Amino acid sequence: MTLVQARLAHAADVEGFRRQARALLHAGIEPDRVAWQVEAGGDDAAADLFDACAAFRADDLPQPDAATPSVRVPAAFAQLCDAGLLHRSPQRHALLYRLLWRLRHEPGLRHDPLDPQMRQARELARAVQRDIHKMRAFVRFTALPDGRHVAWFEPAHHVVEANAGFFARRFAQMRWAILTPDRCIEWDGSRLQLRPGADRTEKPAPDAGEALWLTYYEHIFNPARLKVAAMVREMPRRYWPQLPEATLIRPLIDTAAGRAGAMVDAGATPARRFRPIVPLRAAVPQHTPRTLEELRVATDACRDCPIGAGATQAVCGSGPLQAAHMLVGEQPGDQEDLAGRPFVGPAGQLLDRALAELGWARDAIYLANAVKHFKYELRGKRRIHKTAGQREAAACLHWLEREIELVQPRSLVALGATAARALLGRPVAVQGERGRWLHERADGLPVLLTWHPSALLRLPPAQRPAAYAQWLSDLAAAREAA
Ligand code: URA
Repeated sequence: MTLVQARLAHAADVEGFRRQARALLHAGIEPDRVAWQVEAGGDDAAADLFDACAAFRADDLPQPDAATPSVRVPAAFAQLCDAGLLHRSPQRHALLYRLLWRLRHEPGLRHDPLDPQMRQARELARAVQRDIHKMRAFVRFTALPDGRHVAWFEPAHHVVEANAGFFARRFAQMRWAILTPDRCIEWDGSRLQLRPGADRTEKPAPDAGEALWLTYYEHIFNPARLKVAAMVREMPRRYWPQLPEATLIRPLIDTAAGRAGAMVDAGATPARRFRPIVPLRAAVPQHTPRTLEELRVATDACRDCPIGAGATQAVCGSGPLQAAHMLVGEQPGDQEDLAGRPFVGPAGQLLDRALAELGWARDAIYLANAVKHFKYELRGKRRIHKTAGQREAAACLHWLEREIELVQPRSLVALGATAARALLGRPVAVQGERGRWLHERADGLPVLLTWHPSALLRLPPAQRPAAYAQWLSDLAAAREAA
């Protein structure tokens, strides 16, 4: 039997497989006569033997010309094939070529869901899809002093190229590299480059973002909701060595029962206090507030929109008059509503952390919100934050503008889209416009737009360190400018 050698340039050479499979099918070469071999970084190692036995190569076969009907396969199989080719199994090319051959010669195959080879191919494709998804979720970038972000990742299959477009789109504004033992990808802000695999010694050392992430992970771990099997399904153990938070899992599991017991013993959270609805006419003062205290009293009584009626109190800004910078958030949250001060809850803690990293004293800044009352919906006893509607934010705008007039900052920083819309009077896409000074206000105050800290807390873990680094650099730019 004459062997035909089909060579693939690298382990993820899908195009090379398609080209040669087309030529092989066109020439009527049965699957048993084809020896598939991966050249660079090959995991398929029978090369020498086949070199000796093979009479010719698939690439020497004529390609079917444009007039020859191409191999017709169901679209679902084409997708399955593209994914299956990225599996680490050395038998994948042989299996998928055999299926292509059979699809051509056994028309009934496409209607047989239980065919063992089809099932095997589906298994390969499923494992690859899962690894593509896990890479998106588990890549952790580290910030380097030169401004680049670098991650080390060890995929289960050859999924690096398949994910390159995803990472380029998601982190388009950053310079980054993902190093893996198979292949590395680099993005310089405009161009993707593929490089040969890296060595584990090139894995970057942990940075400040990692310490933040570990603290965050520890805090959001809810011992009362622990389901170890479900957690391991989502975060398979093979990825643990690559995940900094994995070191916390064992101690968190070990202490979960005790902590959950303490939560039960602590009893229920007392019900929140609600203010009665104050009639609109009686409540709104007839004059423009001349001091921040008058502003607080006036906003507290404001019922120009329905939010105020359900809140404990209005939350005006805090900080010194004539602060160089005024940072504007969206609206008070649950804890701010109870405390009567802005940014004291989780978003405020993240802001405090960022300010501390920048050496920027919180009490040098005036912190305010676009909307002065807490909007929420009740779920059981819990008050869940609801973003204020545009008309509600518009009703509150005159309070914010009065606050700016009274404080007289030299610049404004909009934390998130609600604040940006209030300050600029137009819809703003944070991702597209962040990090730049915008000179659009009638009073001449420049506005710098950046992420809201709550948006960072809501991001999937893989994206958090990079977004946090962007946020820090935006805040640093805001601080420098004034
Ligand atoms: N989010 C805000 O926008 N403001 C706060 O005061 C707290 C959370």
